Amino acid sequence: MVDYDPNIIQTIEDDRPRIPVGLLSREEKDRLIERGFLGLYRWYVAKSQEKRNWNPDLSFDWRAFRKDHSPEVVRILEGFFAVEQYVPDYVTTLLRVIRKSHGRSHFHIRWGAEEERHAELWHNAVLFSGQRDGEWLRGYMGDLRANMWQLPWDDPIHMIFYTVFQERATQVNYLNLGVIARGKSELEMFANDADPILDAACRTIAADEAAHYNFFLEGARLYMYYYPTKAIEAMSDVIKYFAMPAGNIIPNYDRFAELVHKAAIYGPREHAKDVVQVALKNLGVAGRKALENGIKRSRLVPDENGNLRETAVFEGIDFQFIQSAVQRIFGRIEGHERESGLWEVDPTPFVPNYA
Ligand SMILES: [Fe+2]
Ligand SMILES: [Fe+2]
Repeated sequence: MVDYDPNIIQTIEDDRPRIPVGLLSREEKDRLIERGFLGLYRWYVAKSQEKRNWNPDLSFDWRAFRKDHSPEVVRILEGFFAVEQYVPDYVTTLLRVIRKSHGRSHFHIRWGAEEERHAELWHNAVLFSGQRDGEWLRGYMGDLRANMWQLPWDDPIHMIFYTVFQERATQVNYLNLGVIARGKSELEMFANDADPILDAACRTIAADEAAHYNFFLEGARLYMYYYPTKAIEAMSDVIKYFAMPAGNIIPNYDRFAELVHKAAIYGPREHAKDVVQVALKNLGVAGRKALENGIKRSRLVPDENGNLRETAVFEGIDFQFIQSAVQRIFGRIEGHERESGLWEVDPTPFVPNYA
């Protein structure tokens, strides 16, 4: 029997990763992410048709929209209209990147249809405010569409995180305009802006943005679970360089950004507290610092055949939370597939990546 030096044994023991190591091959992980997206998309469409099937022309009593809103509210409506105006670019640019994924590309088309109705909703709000006419709006649309929106990142994993933060930010914007529309703003400039029609519009559109946020969040969790290193690196990049869509191409966007900031709708404070902090929590990350530490600690370790396997980062990132969330995603998909019968012909079961 060979007498091993106990120090060597100890060194090997110390070097062993204390973190769960991924079990699945790259192909299997890609397959599971794809199946996850597809199942989620099918579930999403059913829910969307059942619960959020509204129409931008007929679901609101536009004739009763106030004609005497403050100039600030009208400028905010105009700004929201502008941001939603680039929906053809939002759809086509990313669609090219994700076109091979059945689940993601089909979801993206559905998502685009829901964003398109947002553009129409704000179009109507601006028009029925009585302070801009159709001629002006058409001219403004022409100015906006003279520029084309470009993808901030051109890979699927960065874009899933971008859409997580962007959808949450949009939801926060609309919810906070809703505060003004309910007459609950503490700011003097909005003292006379209560409007039940605008309130209903904000609630309706914010519910769509919440649904979008949730879909992208679940997609991000799939990546966090199966590709944690790549996922947290992408997430960190997105947080560092995040900007609202089309801010760089909308004419006079700075003035709009300043206004929504002053209006307590969306500024650095709302972004940090209501967007980044919330999304990080929903992704099992304790905070921005934890994310940076996670990146430093994540690494690849060889398995018994010498293949590099990904390790699940642990400090500051609640991996158990992510695993449970991903199990819930597949549980939800199973529920939908059992209801439709898909489960009997082509089921989408959860496959764990960690022992
Ligand atoms: Fe939207
Ligand atoms: Fe959205």
